[in-house]
Amino acid sequence: MDEKILNVLRRSEDSYVSGEELCKSADISRAAIWKHIEQLREAGYEIEALPHLGYKLVSAPDALIPCEIKWKLNTKVFGKEIISYKKVDSTNDIAYQLAEKGVKEGTVIMAEEQSKGKGRQGRTWASPSKGGIYMSCILRPKIAPNEIPRITLLAAVATARAIRAVTSLDASIKWPNDIMLDGKKVCGILTEMKAEQDRAAFIILGIGINVNTPAKQLPKGSASLKDELSRRGIKGKVSRVELAKNVLEKLEELYSLSERKGFASVIEAWKGLSSMLGSRVKITLPNRTFEGLAHDIDPDGSLIVRLDSGVLEKLPSGDVVMVR
Ligand code: BTN
Repeated sequence: MDEKILNVLRRSEDSYVSGEELCKSADISRAAIWKHIEQLREAGYEIEALPHLGYKLVSAPDALIPCEIKWKLNTKVFGKEIISYKKVDSTNDIAYQLAEKGVKEGTVIMAEEQSKGKGRQGRTWASPSKGGIYMSCILRPKIAPNEIPRITLLAAVATARAIRAVTSLDASIKWPNDIMLDGKKVCGILTEMKAEQDRAAFIILGIGINVNTPAKQLPKGSASLKDELSRRGIKGKVSRVELAKNVLEKLEELYSLSERKGFASVIEAWKGLSSMLGSRVKITLPNRTFEGLAHDIDPDGSLIVRLDSGVLEKLPSGDVVMVR
């Protein structure tokens, strides 16, 4: 109901909507309208109410809530269903539980804060309140389990493109899925899945972006979009709503492109955004370390490293650092 009322106010842009009109469009009583207006105000919407004129929406909060994200969201699948929380342990865990219960592909879980944000390889992901975007998308692609790394690369391309579009910052990708700004990490992606024998039952695509949190409150080596813009003389917060929408739109664009035309175009886009190919790298796996030249990305998403012996080694996952 709040969303219905809100959208009537939004459509009327700068003019007032009379109480009567609101009652008609939402099919509820005047008293109920007032109650909903109060609820919207509590959620951070600034709504002017003038006798004889009616109501006008003055401003909306930069909150990761369905009414904000879904407004003018240009997607057919991603974000059609959004469930948002003020605080959760991990949006990936909630998404996983919901996916097991059978919720639709494209459903997105968002939170303003995570108390146990999960990173890759058992690490944690710092998720302070209202400073970042913490979201997990449920996907049900018809792919084999060994093709799942492709989805991670696709998400990295989508997120890097969205950051570039919204902030004009030169976001690049460090294999497999870190988004970097000037060598510092601004976004991480954690893909989890449930596999059946020959295909993925579902994939949880968890994306964490440091948006307005000061980098000094984040782990060493992290960047935030606000800080990076400020270093370049651009002050002010970045709209998390605008960025989250943009990520969902770019994800959908690439996801449907790869379904229709195959994955090669995503790999090409990934290479174009990579900050690493051609550089000397050190890759740490749980029980081995490799050093060599980051040579290429395999069609399945693995990194191909040319070792000093000249041998090409294909690595499906691992932690990479660039070395001199
Ligand atoms: C990494 O280590 O680079 C991956 C970080 C992924 C963080 C995101 S935030 C939303 C989602 N929920 C989680 O618990 N983790 C992912």
